[in-house]
Amino acid sequence: MQEGLNNTASETPLLKLENISKRFPGVSALYRVDFDLREGEVHVLFGENGAGKSTLINIVAGALRPTAGRILYRGKEMYFPNVHSARKIGVHAVFQEFSLIPQLTVTQNLFLGVEKGRYGFLEKKKMHQQAQEILDRLGFELDPRKKIIYLTRAEQQMVEIAKVFGADLSVLILDEPTASLTEKETERLFALIAQARNNNVGIIYITHRMGELKRISDRITILRDGHYIATVKTDNVTDNELVELMTGRVIDQIFPTIEYNPTETILSVHDITTADNSVNNVSVEFKKGEIVGMAGLVGSGKSKVMRACFGIEDIKSGKIIFEGNELTHVTPAKMLDMGMFYIPPDRRNEGLVMMRNVRENITLAALPLLKLSLYSMFLKRKNERELALDLSQRLNLQPLKTERSVDLFSGGNQQKALLAKVLTRNTKLFIFDEPTVGVDVGTRVAIYEFLAELCQQGAAIVLISSDLPEILNLTNRAYVFYRGYLRAELRDEEITEQNVLFHFFEQEAA
Ligand SMILES: Nc1ncnc2c1ncn2[C@@H]1O[C@H](COP(=O)(O)OP(=O)(O)OP(=O)(O)O)[C@@H](O)[C@H]1O
Ligand SMILES: [Mg+2]
Repeated sequence: MQEGLNNTASETPLLKLENISKRFPGVSALYRVDFDLREGEVHVLFGENGAGKSTLINIVAGALRPTAGRILYRGKEMYFPNVHSARKIGVHAVFQEFSLIPQLTVTQNLFLGVEKGRYGFLEKKKMHQQAQEILDRLGFELDPRKKIIYLTRAEQQMVEIAKVFGADLSVLILDEPTASLTEKETERLFALIAQARNNNVGIIYITHRMGELKRISDRITILRDGHYIATVKTDNVTDNELVELMTGRVIDQIFPTIEYNPTETILSVHDITTADNSVNNVSVEFKKGEIVGMAGLVGSGKSKVMRACFGIEDIKSGKIIFEGNELTHVTPAKMLDMGMFYIPPDRRNEGLVMMRNVRENITLAALPLLKLSLYSMFLKRKNERELALDLSQRLNLQPLKTERSVDLFSGGNQQKALLAKVLTRNTKLFIFDEPTVGVDVGTRVAIYEFLAELCQQGAAIVLISSDLPEILNLTNRAYVFYRGYLRAELRDEEITEQNVLFHFFEQEAA
């Protein structure tokens, strides 16, 4: 901890932002926003995708310069030309998009950016030891000698968190830190946050998850379209009030009423085991006109089963039958042709080409189809444009600029671009893997309605989700997985929180 932090119960906030504005070419991301952070509080930033949350914390952390406005730290005006200058006074951030260097080890990444000389004399072994100590203290099971490229997204997230908790903290910023963590890791993180809070650290926390926000925050500041809306005490506000402040409208029903009409089986999987044994002897089947949930903890195999069906996970044994035909060699290209579409959760690594614009990303999967069209080049292009615009509009892409490069959009809006891709093909079976990660409540409603519509039109839908309310409210049948095994199949009224959770945590795999 920094000196003098513990007994300064002063009136001056730890951090105060006044009239902060930020303009990007063609977009006003923040307009005259005020914000203050006290010592020892968890202050949540809440707002729809693209509201300006990440932009604001990037300014506080020195990663972006404001176009106008002042930053006061303990009453003194500060200017952060870069991340390093903010770190010097104890302002550290875990950003939404990671900043690790993939080719380096966990240890090297942990000590990166630490002033030269301080660790310069340490040999490798000692550094690994220190890294191990940090990880142990945080309760993260990670090998410090491993290179970042070999880590899962959740593990990379842990390294990011370890980086900041290893530092002298005065302001801690976390941008959707739990998006890829398991329950256990999330609990660890919350304990660490509580500890930092007791040490008078001020914490800015961004999340779209209501439960989480209610649990850990003291105050909430709501942003909408780059504008400051309100700051409220967490104890004094209801979920509905929060959603209304965030969206500016009343949302009375988050989950739609869906009419399921299961007809013929489109995909059946018999006794499959993946090459890495992460899935063992699993048999499942899916029918047109239904939404089937795949539930279970991270690593339970719920996602891998479907990835295997799409040809991105190797299979050791078992049978896959699609529309009555047994498939011998499964590849994504072949499955796309046959009418199956898998929408991955990791938009950055698997889903989108970040440097291309939204139109290109949306129509990429449809290219083989467009080529078949008899229209001239010119017309084709026009269709592509219209198609992209249409779909973006439907999913409420913000801003609605399809010629804009994907990496310039906020996290949640990138997710919308990924979903729009799905609609370009004639698809019979949709596999959605965590479709609402990082997506705000308003857009969730749009995505849920979209799933309902697809189902009612007779498509088969598989919904892989770690969000229990989604499984409970959107599916007519659910498979629950535990450590690579199928544990249960639940139908209609059987799909209750109690039933699903019971199988999540069942102790012994048969
Ligand atoms: N580098 C950039 N260049 C241009 N525009 C940007 C850039 N970064 C962000 N924006 C725009 O600024 C606005 C605010 O984005 P920001 O990332 O702060 O949103 P957010 O509230 O964090 O959203 P999410 O919940 O989706 O992460 C968006 O309209 C976004 O497209
Ligand atoms: Mg963001």
